[in-house]
Amino acid sequence: MPVTDQLSVTAALHQRRSIRKFTDQPVDPALLQDIFAAAQRAPSGGNLQPWQATLLTGDPWQAVQDAVAARLAMGRAGYEPEYDIYPKGLTDPWEARRFGVGEGLYAALGIPREDKAGRLAQFVENYRGFGAPVMLFLHCSRIMGPPQWADMGMWLQSVMLLLVEAGLASCPQECWAMYGRTVRQALALDDDQILFTGLAIGYADADAAVNQWPVPRVAPNDVIDWQGF
Ligand SMILES: Cc1cc2nc3c(=O)[nH]c(=O)nc-3n(C[C@H](O)[C@H](O)[C@H](O)COP(=O)(O)O)c2cc1C
Repeated sequence: MPVTDQLSVTAALHQRRSIRKFTDQPVDPALLQDIFAAAQRAPSGGNLQPWQATLLTGDPWQAVQDAVAARLAMGRAGYEPEYDIYPKGLTDPWEARRFGVGEGLYAALGIPREDKAGRLAQFVENYRGFGAPVMLFLHCSRIMGPPQWADMGMWLQSVMLLLVEAGLASCPQECWAMYGRTVRQALALDDDQILFTGLAIGYADADAAVNQWPVPRVAPNDVIDWQGF
């Protein structure tokens, strides 16, 4: 059953954005139960439903933040990436898009390029889930390949749109995969599991500049080649 029937899919798609400042308003677990029940309708090749998730709030969520903070303090020596977040040697047009979204974010916050400490401080907010009261970690068996990872993405987007419908907000966060081993240990995941991403969940701080800047998209016909129409 849908949580509410107030939003069209189109409206939910337009309303969803990555939220990088949350209020401390707690999230009703019953609402999350309904959302995850609906998200199980996400499609997957062969109906494998390969996604697995761990949902945290309160002390267990704080424990992950503390464990990762200790790794963060080690600088680059603390990295333990689960996978390459971006392809090595990423070229344009993708590299320009990646660069552009970072610049847009820091411009919205008024943090210039020279202010390395300011940019780092904003980046480190990732590892507090931007203040979200709930954190979801999305993982799957290591035997899964690209098709099943795409399935995970479809489940993730389903969850994000359902959150919007319920008046909630989210930010997907693959940055946690930079500290994959530490997160997996804190979650007591089996070694068989690989961590894909975090998803910060809560209520958006609607007034925050970081939640208001326009995030561009390329035109549909830059990515779709229509043939035979
Ligand atoms: C799988 C995935 C992982 C992401 N990881 C991060 C992250 O670690 N930190 C962050 O601030 N944004 C992260 N994002 C958000 C993207 O930057 C964002 O989706 C993109 O710029 C489009 O903006 P929008 O979500 O606001 O529409 C991630 C998005 C996805 C789909």
